[in-house]
Amino acid sequence: MTQKLFVFGRTPELSWLELSRIYPNSRRLLSHIACAQISNEDMTSSLSRLGGTVAVCNVMGKIRSLTAAEIAGFLTGSASGLTFSLHIFSGQTSTEKLSDEIKNILAGKLGRIRYVIPKSPEAVSSVQFSREHTVMLVILPADGGYLVGQIAGVQPYLEWEKRDYGRPYADPKRGMLPPKVARMAVNAALGPEPAGKTVLDPFCGMGTVLAESLLVGAAAIAADIYSPSLTKAQANIVWLKENYPEVRGKMDILVSDAAHISEALPPAFVDAIVTEPFMGSPEIGEHKVPAQKAGSLLHGLEKLYIGCLRDWHGVLKTGGKVCIALPAYVYPRHTYTVKKVIDMCENLGYTKLFGPIAYNRPDAVVRRDFYLFERI
Ligand SMILES: C[S@@+](CC[C@H](N)C(=O)[O-])C[C@H]1O[C@@H](n2cnc3c(N)ncnc32)[C@H](O)[C@@H]1O
Repeated sequence: MTQKLFVFGRTPELSWLELSRIYPNSRRLLSHIACAQISNEDMTSSLSRLGGTVAVCNVMGKIRSLTAAEIAGFLTGSASGLTFSLHIFSGQTSTEKLSDEIKNILAGKLGRIRYVIPKSPEAVSSVQFSREHTVMLVILPADGGYLVGQIAGVQPYLEWEKRDYGRPYADPKRGMLPPKVARMAVNAALGPEPAGKTVLDPFCGMGTVLAESLLVGAAAIAADIYSPSLTKAQANIVWLKENYPEVRGKMDILVSDAAHISEALPPAFVDAIVTEPFMGSPEIGEHKVPAQKAGSLLHGLEKLYIGCLRDWHGVLKTGGKVCIALPAYVYPRHTYTVKKVIDMCENLGYTKLFGPIAYNRPDAVVRRDFYLFERI
């Protein structure tokens, strides 16, 4: 086991929740970086399991100051030369100036030297790493100096693209989580040992959450009030199994109101509920609903979610988790939330472990606030 650095993508809070649930010994170093002990052999499986980590680095050593001479000591090339990029997680540094100085130091010692400037420190280009063999150094402040890591593996980005765009059915208008976000929620709920566990999504829509649950080795139960959604979810899972023959778990289907699932499932039957529930009319997201009306619509949804949590308590095992994305409506003068759901969670038999973790586009009216609850 060696200490590795994990570089988070665009949703660092969710990435951290996921990582800390899978590796309880992990430590967050910066907003976009954490460290955890894993073996070299586990790195590839770790990168394909984590939805929110874009790269894993080996720790190379420490430097006292951010100078070209010290950083150049970590760069070795081949006869054909070297392409490098610096991912510096320290505010005021000019990456371009440093890269240029390093190029000058190494010129003559190595073959042709090139550097690439990342758009931001956490913007790790998988193509540059995998196809162009760029040596990528991650540098962050630590103990009065700087820690230097070298990216040793990146997220299998083609797999994520394949699931995002390749499945037969997708319906962004009715709300749909990107597979990476669904994976983070599944990992947060299932923790380090997902195999053999059962995940229920009571608002399953196109089945995004359940596809990610099956891929990590869990069994799935799909429920939705609207049977055409279930037909599409089923077609998406058939596609998943054709494309990922390693998926062995099965998916059961229930047409049910999410607040009445306990009428269809035995008590203490599921290990985790992971869901993005119905979030209100798509017109809200399209800026077509005035603020006050949206507030009262959200109040109605609050009652639905409270009814759901009350009902789900019966079908969850003790210690089982609920990872749920609750809506908030963001208007210029006021943000409407479902605060009562959170205030009541103890009375409903849950402990709040994490949340809210906001997930939204900057200008979006509907924000998703992720929470992780544990059934008491
Ligand atoms: C936001 S979508 C879920 C999208 C899903 N996360 C995905 O990625 O495809 C909400 C789903 O909840 C279903 N739904 C709405 N009200 C419901 C209720 N009371 N009980 C169960 N399902 C409901 C809708 O039919 C819709 O498929």
